[in-house]
Amino acid sequence: MAFGETMVTSSVPAIPQLAASSGMKLSKEHFIVAVPVAVVAAVGGFLVSRYLSGRSCKKGMVNTCISKDSPKVVHSFDMEDIGTKAVYCRCWKSKKFPYCDGAHSKHNEETGDNVGPLIIKKKDA
Ligand code: FES
Repeated sequence: MAFGETMVTSSVPAIPQLAASSGMKLSKEHFIVAVPVAVVAAVGGFLVSRYLSGRSCKKGMVNTCISKDSPKVVHSFDMEDIGTKAVYCRCWKSKKFPYCDGAHSKHNEETGDNVGPLIIKKKDA
């Protein structure tokens, strides 16, 4: 390259050069066909992998970790034992389940959800 000449670089011309150096002869027309095929294959592969991964875990499952060995998670409390106020978890993320420990805030931040606890309290006298 002579002084004052500008070298134009691009990633696209490098690919045919790479292919040529490996013995392959690819024309611009090959790339015009290959790029859409590659994009369709990539999108198709992504969609298939999402479909298959979705099949491995049950969709719509709310409870991801609490008493999973039990066929049904049920808690029962006597009204007399609740006291003046009780705060129960409805997001199923609390480490103190069935009581709310504030884990719903992190869940809401991470997912954009809007779940919150059930608060039961006696009327003000
Ligand atoms: Fe689940 Fe608060 S931690 S609702």
